[in-house]
Amino acid sequence: MTLTDVQPQLLENWSSLPKEEQSQLTQQIRAIDLEIFKKLQDALHEEKKLHEDYAPLKKYLTSGSDENTQVGKDLIAQGKVGCIIMAGGMGTRLHFEGSKGMFPITQFRQKSLFQYFSDRIRAASKMYQKDLPVTIMTSSLNDKQTRKFFKDHEYFGLNPEQLSFYVQGDLPFLDQQGNLFFDSQAHIAEGPDGNGELLHHFYHSGLWKRWKEQGVEYVNIILIDNPLADPFDPELVGTHKQEQCDILVKGIKREDPKEKLGVLVRIHDKVHIVEYSELPEKDMEATLSNGDLKFPCGNLSLFSVKMDFFEKIKSTDLPLHKAFKALSYLDVNGKRVKPTEPNAWKFEKFIFDIFPHGTVEVMVYPREECFSPLKRREGADSPETVMRDLQEFDRRTYHAISGLEPPSRPFELDPQFYYPTEDMRKKWEGKALPEGDYILP
Ligand code: UTP
Repeated sequence: MTLTDVQPQLLENWSSLPKEEQSQLTQQIRAIDLEIFKKLQDALHEEKKLHEDYAPLKKYLTSGSDENTQVGKDLIAQGKVGCIIMAGGMGTRLHFEGSKGMFPITQFRQKSLFQYFSDRIRAASKMYQKDLPVTIMTSSLNDKQTRKFFKDHEYFGLNPEQLSFYVQGDLPFLDQQGNLFFDSQAHIAEGPDGNGELLHHFYHSGLWKRWKEQGVEYVNIILIDNPLADPFDPELVGTHKQEQCDILVKGIKREDPKEKLGVLVRIHDKVHIVEYSELPEKDMEATLSNGDLKFPCGNLSLFSVKMDFFEKIKSTDLPLHKAFKALSYLDVNGKRVKPTEPNAWKFEKFIFDIFPHGTVEVMVYPREECFSPLKRREGADSPETVMRDLQEFDRRTYHAISGLEPPSRPFELDPQFYYPTEDMRKKWEGKALPEGDYILP
């Protein structure tokens, strides 16, 4: 039995296609595994049920340990830490044509997210006197564009040796009847398979082996759309070493019961994440006698993962999650149609489904230090809120290094301030903020 036996419509227009498109379509049909297609169809009829024994996460760590920070600094300086940036999503809510990392986000220099993170990594590399390893996970939709963007900008000053890219996988979409369909004349509709396969694709790209041989032991995983995510967080890594678990999750205290954040829970002896849409409203809003939310911790998708855990998990089959989405397609005239109503099922795997397969601890950070996501054009989690949060972050950073109150005018710090060298610390102690919008060290 082959895919075209169960989906014969895929070959309906075959004979009218130009040769080149015929061969592209053949390749695509070959690449779709019949078993995977069947799993997608099964997932369409599955009702995801929340495990009934879920309970609030009562035991978690809190950031603020100088000792663990020092342990982490030593690990980073020894080259034992790498960073993976997830940048393969479709960014549909942002309505941005390019890869999300190309979106300009800083107030005065208008740096893209890719540049902003590159600057941070360059600054950290300078502080630790080591070209810290970083890899960017792209998707088939934005891989070429992302690599070109970096090349055109001379890798934003990063050493091309320290920077790598790998591509996540795709999964086909299904129509309302559960069939594969075309989104252009000869292309079966498909999209990125979610961030759940991040470890799997990293492992099989060959990069895991390279980093392992280099001596990397811990991987900091961050999202491209949260510029407050620290690519090399010494306290996270230091605590991870002390705790000895497979994964250390960097979370925050939930404040607004309606906030659209995954909720960290415990099911028996394991940490899990429940999507906000899956947790019953009564639990989302439940409070303790002191007013705190009963389910206290929110997930930011920031993790430190042990390199050895990648090997353990490399062949584990993770569950599929489905969502009914508005998928754009090319009509018969080759014109792109962007429907406003959902028209197709998209399938994804989520990274947090690896949790039950390992030992997991959670550490809670102050929200303003680590979380300001870019999700949409306006309102919450928009460029406006991200720029506001970055400005606050820069004000606090300036205060920390100078000991002085920052002036009320807005300014943008060069990211070297986030990873200050000893010379910088000496220079800036008690130093008033100079004139200008962009402050160099
Ligand atoms: P989101 O779930 O917010 O998706 O991903 P998105 O693609 O950025 O935006 P929408 O939902 O289409 O509007 C959170 C992060 O996970 C990465 C994204 O790049 C983003 O940094 N991601 C998501 C991947 O790397 N691959 C995926 O398949 C999905």
